[in-house]
This record gives sequence, structure tokens and C-alpha cells, in this order.
Amino acid sequence: MKMPLALVCLCLLSVTVAQAQSTDAPKDTGSSDVTVTLHADQPLGKVNPNIYGHFAEHLGRCIYEGIWVGEDSSIPNTRGIRNDVTAALREMNIPVLRWPGGCFADEYHWMDGIGPRDKRPALINTHWGGVVENNHFGTHEFLDLCEQIGAEPYVCGNVGSGSVQEMMNWVEYMTSDADSPMANLRRANGRDKPWKVPYFGVGNESWGCGGNMRPEYYADLYRRYSTFVKNYSGNRIFKIAGGANVADYNWTEVLMSRAGRLMHGLSLHHYTIPTGNWGRKGSATEFDEAIYHKTLSRTLFMDELVTKHSEIMDRHDPNKRVGMVIDEWGIWTDVEPGTNPGFLYQQNSIRDAIIAGLNFHIFHKHADRVSMANIAQTINVLQAMILTDKEKMLLTPTYHVFEMFSVHQGGTFLPLQIETPDYTVGDSSIPAVSASATRDADGEIHLSLVNTNPNQALRVTCSMNGAEAKNISGRVLTAPKFNSYNSFDAPETVKPTDFDGASLRGNQIEINLPSKAVVVLSLR
Ligand code: AHR
Repeated sequence: MKMPLALVCLCLLSVTVAQAQSTDAPKDTGSSDVTVTLHADQPLGKVNPNIYGHFAEHLGRCIYEGIWVGEDSSIPNTRGIRNDVTAALREMNIPVLRWPGGCFADEYHWMDGIGPRDKRPALINTHWGGVVENNHFGTHEFLDLCEQIGAEPYVCGNVGSGSVQEMMNWVEYMTSDADSPMANLRRANGRDKPWKVPYFGVGNESWGCGGNMRPEYYADLYRRYSTFVKNYSGNRIFKIAGGANVADYNWTEVLMSRAGRLMHGLSLHHYTIPTGNWGRKGSATEFDEAIYHKTLSRTLFMDELVTKHSEIMDRHDPNKRVGMVIDEWGIWTDVEPGTNPGFLYQQNSIRDAIIAGLNFHIFHKHADRVSMANIAQTINVLQAMILTDKEKMLLTPTYHVFEMFSVHQGGTFLPLQIETPDYTVGDSSIPAVSASATRDADGEIHLSLVNTNPNQALRVTCSMNGAEAKNISGRVLTAPKFNSYNSFDAPETVKPTDFDGASLRGNQIEINLPSKAVVVLSLR
């Protein structure tokens, strides 16, 4: 069955693959289980690199311990920021980093986080565990982190409990080169030249922790606050309005109709809750196949969400000037047993890696509207890339997907059609295979594939229209079990390896796609 190009990547067929099998050698039936037609001759828009963005909040052990250990720490650091973490983050090529929240942003007063650290006032982090925050990681430290890892800063301002003047001053402090009060205060605090701050968020979740506002009220506040977010000294700010909670389409309608012309981006938050129940979300590592399946099925809802919010944005902004900024996404499980419930510390398994791959494929498909996405969160919180335990650090399966998929950043999206069997558990089915392709500036084609089925390896045949390749190479991320994860005792249980399961014949690729796997192929 051929699907229209608009429905590339994530299609359903009613063929059911036998669930009982558990083998990574595809059955030799002589024919393919999955067929992909890659339209290299019909390139669409660019995949914005910022789709691979991150989010680091003052929450639990994300900033403190995960990033900031202080200059006097025995953990090797550069100006207080731990070196092992920055090295790992550089490796994965983070384009943009959102900070300081999240909910924290709407109770954060930036002036408490500048100047000599021993003089900075403390505050209670009311949202996240009620812990006392010493403000040692503030504006200078965050922007230093961005410089160390090569990411562009995305700063989220305080609308919920902050003033317009405070927001205006912060932007001047960071970005102005004038002989002006805020720029001179920055100089007095040790930074002569302004930073470039290309992205600024005007509040966070203003429908909830950011002030429990109605969309009409927030739209007016957005209009007011954003007016005073100024461009100084050649810094051009992409202003991002706080967007909807999941499927609150009315929020998008009201924001776009009342304030759309004053924004460059509108955010959207969607978390994957394995059970669908916020009270008992489910464990990050102890789950059965039914929950595994349900989790993937819930994450695929992202496609519907982006489609429906895009339809509303299209009505108000047919030229797609306003970007959709999915600045919080990822899986949210119960915390690890014995840890502070307010710290949102969870493990990360191959299920998380598959979730990341599926979401990226959705974001690519909507690359004409989705201009940024920021996974929640970079370190030690929710679907993290990195977990730390004092001086120890490990890379999660999600880290590996970000690193493997970084070849897609900035590439030209190449549409594809896919015929895939379903992966079915009980009466619920999802496509077994999802795929996406881009061409980079050097002409290399990158094809990523996700096999959601934990029991069945699949034989994939991909035909390329308008491209031929002489060489193919690839990497695969898979695991012994669908809940395998990396622990501090066994940190390399899930890690990418070279993939030798793909071969080329003219413009045709034959792929033996292992079960519960993410594969990225490069074709030259
Ligand atoms: O990422 C954790 C929290 O989830 C953020 O602070 C908030 O914006 C969202 O509700």
C-alpha cells in the first residue's frame, strides 16, 4: 500500500507480526517485511538543527551536581562546570540549551544570581523539592556553559512573579554593548563583551505553574512583556510565547489570534506518561511488554498534536513565520525508589532511546513548522542524556540516539513512504518500523530507522529514487531486553556499535533491522 507523501514515515498496516518470536535474525521468507521508498529527488525543507535542543532547569540534580560542582570541587571542572559532562555534551553537538526553567523560571529573579557568589541571596525552589537554592549558578555561569559546549542560549524569562522592568533589564544586561546601567553592571561582574542570546521565552506554562492564567489574559501579558524584550547591539531575539498544554487547542487559537504577529515562536509541551496516569506513571525500568507498547503508542500521539496545533497556526500564519517550539518533551516516569520525589530522577532504558527516535522522526516530518524542540531534561532529570553519581557519570540510551541522529541536524528532509507491519500487543497496534532521511551539505544521505518490536527483527528493503550510493556505513543501538539500561555498575549495557546488517545493490538497500533497535545509515 502506498501512502501519500504527506503521510510519510509513520503509517499503519494491518499485517500483524507474530509476537512470540524472539530472534534478531529475520525469518528468511525471501521477501521483505518492510519496504521503504526514499524520494531523494523530491527534497523538502531543512531540518532545523534546533530540533535537537535541550533543556536544563534548576530542578533536582540537573544544574547542581549534574553541571555545577563549584570551582573548589575535587571533580575536575572549568570555572565550576564539570569537565566530564561538558565533554560529553560537546560530543553530541547540542545546538541550543533552554534555561533556567520550566516552572523555576517564573520564580527566578536573575539579579539574585549575579555578582560575588558568597553574597548572592538564597531562594526556596518551591516547585522542586522545596530545597534552598544558593544561586551560585546564574546568568554568567549559564552563558559560560553554553560557550563551553558550543550551544546557543535560550533564556526563559519570568512572567509569573517578575516585572516587565526586570525582564527588560535582564536582556540589556546580557546583550547590550552600550555604556548603559545594565551593561556596566555586567562589566563590573567580570564580563566585558555582551553575549549573543538568540532565543528568549516570555514565561513558561502560564496556564499552570507559571501563573494559572487564562489564554486571553496571558496573550495580553505576552503582548506587554514581549514589547520590552529588545534587540541591543546587533543581538536579534527570537521571542517565544508560552504555548499550550498538550491538546489545549484553544490556547493556540487564542495566542495566535491575539498575539501571533508579535511572536517568532509558540511553544508546546507534551510528556509521555507510560500508564497515562500522573499519579502512578510507571517505573523507568520495571515494566512489562504491555506498558512498553502503551508507552510507545502514547509517544506517537506527538504526531497528532503537532498536526492539529499546526493546522491552527496555519490559519493565522499561512507563511509559517511563527515556529512551533516543542520546548519540553520526553518520557516522565515515577522517580527511582528512595530518591526525592521533587527531583524527578529517573533511569533511562532502550525504551527511552526508541521514544527519542520516534519523536525525531515526527519532528523531521513537520520540519516546515517545528523550528525547535528541547528534550526534558539534559542531566539527572526526566529523560536525561547523562546521569551522575558524585564523581561518576554515565551516558544513557537517549544520549546515544541524540549523538547518532546529530547527522540529521540542518539536513534537507527527504520524504519517504513506508509499508510496515504493525507491532501489536492485545488490541493495540503501532507501526513496527519508523524511518526518516535527510541529505547533508556534502550530499551524504542519512537514513534512520526505528524497530519498535522487541521480539522480531525485520527485513527492510529501501529503494532510493534520484540517488545512488557506492558506500554504506551505519551504527545500531539495541539491547538484550526492552528495559535494558545503563547503571553505574554496568554503564555500557546499551551503547551503539557498528552496524553490518545493511548492504547496497545499486539504488536499493537491504537492511536486517534488529528488534527494539535504532539504526542510522550513511550513504555516500
Ligand atoms: O520539566 C519539568 C517540568 O515540567 C517543568 O518545570 C514544567 O515546565 C513542566 O511542567
